[in-house]
Amino acid sequence: MYDLNGKVAIITGGASGMGRAASLLFAQSGANVVVADLNDTDGEEVAKLASESGNKAVFQHTDVSIEAEIEALIARATDTFGRLDIMFNNAGIGGAIGPLEDVSVEAWDRTQAVCLRGVFLGMKHAAAPMRAAGGGSMISTSSIGGLEGATGLFSYSAAKAAVAHLTRCAALEFARDSIRVNCIAPGGISTPILFGIAGSNTAEVESGLERLQPYPHIGQPKDIANAALFLASDAAAFITGHTLVVDGGATAGPRTAAPKAGRKRRSRFAGPSFEGSGKKVD
Ligand SMILES: NC(=O)c1ccc[n+]([C@@H]2O[C@H](COP(=O)([O-])OP(=O)(O)OC[C@H]3O[C@@H](n4cnc5c(N)ncnc54)[C@H](O)[C@@H]3O)[C@@H](O)[C@H]2O)c1
Repeated sequence: MYDLNGKVAIITGGASGMGRAASLLFAQSGANVVVADLNDTDGEEVAKLASESGNKAVFQHTDVSIEAEIEALIARATDTFGRLDIMFNNAGIGGAIGPLEDVSVEAWDRTQAVCLRGVFLGMKHAAAPMRAAGGGSMISTSSIGGLEGATGLFSYSAAKAAVAHLTRCAALEFARDSIRVNCIAPGGISTPILFGIAGSNTAEVESGLERLQPYPHIGQPKDIANAALFLASDAAAFITGHTLVVDGGATAGPRTAAPKAGRKRRSRFAGPSFEGSGKKVD
C-alpha cells in the first residue's frame, strides 16, 4: 500500500496487538524492523515472522519506561541496520483501573511511566539518529480515552492526553530537522490489552466494542497498523503534529445519532420557520 523500502523502524510493544500487526506490515512494506517489548517469547516470534514475510527483523528486550533500555534499543537499530527512520512508540498498559479515590500513587506512577515517559524517552533518543539520516517519522499511540473524558482509567487517560500534546510540542521542536511527529488515537481495538478491562476473551471484548461505535466493523490491530504505515511513509510527508483518530466513528458523535441499520426514514425539507405549521409560538 505504502512503500517503506530502505527505511529502518523501531516498534515498541511489538510483541502483541497493534505493534505486532505494525511489525509485520512494516516488514512487508520494505522496512527493516526492530521489535521491542517486555515479552521476549512473543517478541522473538514476531521478529521471526516479520523476517519471513518481508525484510530483516530483530527483537530487542525493552522496558520503555527505563532510559538505559531505550538507549540500548536505539543503538540496536543503528548498529544492526545503520540508521533509524521510524520510531513507533506504541507500548502501553491499561494501568490503574477503578475509582479515582482508590488509585494508589504507585499504580498512577507506573501507568505514567509506561504510557507517557516511554513515549518521551522514545522521542528523546530517536531524534539524533533521525537527524543524522536527514529526517524521520515519530509515531506514538495515544487513545480516544485521551481525547474525551471517561471514568475508570484516570492515569491512562491523562497519559494518553499528554501523548497527543507532547506530539504537538515535539513536532515544533523537530520540524527544522525534517522529523515529523504524529500520533494515532485508536478507539476500541480487539487486542489482549482489553482482557480484564472489557471482557475476559476475544468474543466478550468484541461484543462490548460493537456497542461502542457506529461503524459495524470491529476495530482490529491491522486498522491501526495501516494508519501507522501511512504516517511512517513519504505519503504523509507534510503531516506533522497531528493526532489521527482511528475509531470507527466512536468520537464523531453520540452512537445514538447514527441511523439504525434497515430503518426506513422519511425525506423532507425544513424551510423558514414562519412557513411551517402556521402555529404561533409565544
Ligand atoms: N486496544 C485498544 O482498544 C486500545 C485503544 C486505544 C489505545 N490503545 C493503545 O495501543 C497501544 C498498543 O496496545 P494493544 O491494544 O496492541 O495492546 P497489547 O497488550 O496487545 O500490546 C501492548 C504491548 O506493549 C507491551 N508492553 C507493555 N508494557 C511495556 C513496557 N513497559 N515496555 C515495553 N513493552 C511493554 C506488552 O507486552 C504488549 O506486547 C497501547 O499504547 C495502548 O494503550 C489500545
